[in-house]
Amino acid sequence: MKNLFYLNKYFAKYRKLLVIGTFFILISNVFALYPAEFVRHAFDYIQNVLENPTSDKKIHFYLLKFGGLIVLFAILKGIFMYFMRQTVIVMSRKIEFDLKNEIYKQYQNLSLSFYKKNNTGDLMNRITEDVNRVRMYLGPALMYAINMAFLFILVIGKMLSINTTLTLYVLIPLPILAIAVYHVSNKINKNSERVQNQLSVLTSISQETFSAINIVKIFRNEENSFKLFFDSCKKYTNRQLKLVSVEAWFFPLIILLIGTSTITTIYIGGLENFKGKITTGNIAEFIIYVNMLTWPVASVGWVTSLVQRAEASMERINEFLKIETEIKNTNPNNTLIKGNITFENVSFIYPDTGIKALKNISFSLKENETLGIFGKTGSGKSTIANLLCRMYDIDNGEIFYDNTKIGDLNLFDLRKNIGYVPQDGFLFSGTVNENISFGIDSKEEEEEEIKEAAKTAEITEEIESFPDKYNTIIGERGVQLSGGQRQRLSIARAIYINPPIYIFDDCLSAIDANKEKLILKNLSGKTKENTNIIISHRTSSLQNANQIIVLDEGEIIEKGTHNELINNNGFYAEMHKKQTTENL
Ligand SMILES: Nc1ncnc2c1ncn2[C@@H]1O[C@H](COP(=O)(O)OP(=O)(O)OP(=O)(O)O)[C@@H](O)[C@H]1O
Ligand SMILES: [Mg+2]
Repeated sequence: MKNLFYLNKYFAKYRKLLVIGTFFILISNVFALYPAEFVRHAFDYIQNVLENPTSDKKIHFYLLKFGGLIVLFAILKGIFMYFMRQTVIVMSRKIEFDLKNEIYKQYQNLSLSFYKKNNTGDLMNRITEDVNRVRMYLGPALMYAINMAFLFILVIGKMLSINTTLTLYVLIPLPILAIAVYHVSNKINKNSERVQNQLSVLTSISQETFSAINIVKIFRNEENSFKLFFDSCKKYTNRQLKLVSVEAWFFPLIILLIGTSTITTIYIGGLENFKGKITTGNIAEFIIYVNMLTWPVASVGWVTSLVQRAEASMERINEFLKIETEIKNTNPNNTLIKGNITFENVSFIYPDTGIKALKNISFSLKENETLGIFGKTGSGKSTIANLLCRMYDIDNGEIFYDNTKIGDLNLFDLRKNIGYVPQDGFLFSGTVNENISFGIDSKEEEEEEIKEAAKTAEITEEIESFPDKYNTIIGERGVQLSGGQRQRLSIARAIYINPPIYIFDDCLSAIDANKEKLILKNLSGKTKENTNIIISHRTSSLQNANQIIVLDEGEIIEKGTHNELINNNGFYAEMHKKQTTENL
């Protein structure tokens, strides 16, 4: 249970609901208890009348009174059961809500390495499946456990006060029932987990096929895809059938044991009645008690298996919650960043893969200057961008912003000051407006500024041609953008926040040369007062840079302005020659 103790802080937060809920559970049990006594009174009364026919004439009134009382108590019990659900189950939903948010917040805190180490499916499972299992403990399991405790004390106390021998005999089958139900529910849980797992396989198979339907069609892979689906679906059905066959044991088992208890009650009760120790009314009363106990006893087994599952889930959740992010904000004060950047002998190895991405990189860039980064694919260009945004911390060398070590800056200020255009140009499902204004905390989108950013990124024309212009939804269910459109929209997103530093990671690659020139021209007009880092495969994007570094396998092999590099006749000059003749 020690992992579930973590939730105690939430119980403390919602203690009011818990206490009131417990009170409602108690009251509803008290109302459940009395009808059995009324039945006994009615039975004994009838027996009395049968034995002494002249003793009472008001038999109708008497029976109606008991009947009415039973109905009244049932209604009262129902009302309090409703309140009990409205408190305990509501509490569990509230805690579920808080826990989900806590996990999500923690996720957002964690570094990129964490995401590299864990697959998305696992991350999703923590926040959905695992939280759901924990909720089953917080809600139903807790409610039934409290309910059971009260009912046991009340009912068994009552039974013992009537007749000890009968009570003991009647209770014998119940522990067997609890153990049997525990085993059956465990089996049901295991099997339904297998069903769930197969269902997610099935879902991801179909999802993958649907999202790559054009590739499936072009490679004529329909039959193969269908076979994959068919096999997986068959496995799913088989697992479902297995689950059904286990579930089929559940109710017969309960009914068998109730039956045993009822027969024992009648038999032993009959013997005790002959001895004159109890009345026939008591036998009827006992039968009701036994029936009242059956479900709680069965739920002991069920609740135990729920708690076990919740404990396992909570253990997984706790593992995530206690991870500390490697990238910590060490400076709570606001820091001002102008845009002088220095790399001093920076080497970097990706912690998760051990790939040495950068070796001894040094350069320095004054504010309002432009640095070009050029190099083959995999040479470490995007890694420099990652380090500049402090997505990873370095072990070797130093990175300075305006003479302050990157680690000593306020992390959030640092990122606020960088307009980063990623290589893949990822956009979110939402409107054009929402995507461009993504980087501003307050959601007060300034229409003019959005339009201005779009204009600088040379995307205005296309946006104007969309059906709802700036309110057009893009993404899965909206307008599908081309690669170049996506890149320009992500450029607009960076421009919108108007930062002192821009990092363009190869974001012009899917844009034709003319548009590229226009955008660079707009940017140089717009970003005159900015430090720019332009990563590119094309020498044409770097011509106006104050300095260019050329990377190869993580090392700087050339450094200089465009003209210097051309005169150098090295790799850069060679690539420039190739690219310019290609364009002719
Ligand atoms: N997140 C990561 N985790 C581990 N290794 C990585 C990661 N990103 C990149 N690498 C590795 O680091 C090296 C440099 O990659 P990087 O992305 O910096 O290259 P790049 O110059 O940007 O290439 P491209 O022009 O193709 O974008 C590569 O060998 C790559 O496999
Ligand atoms: Mg890259």
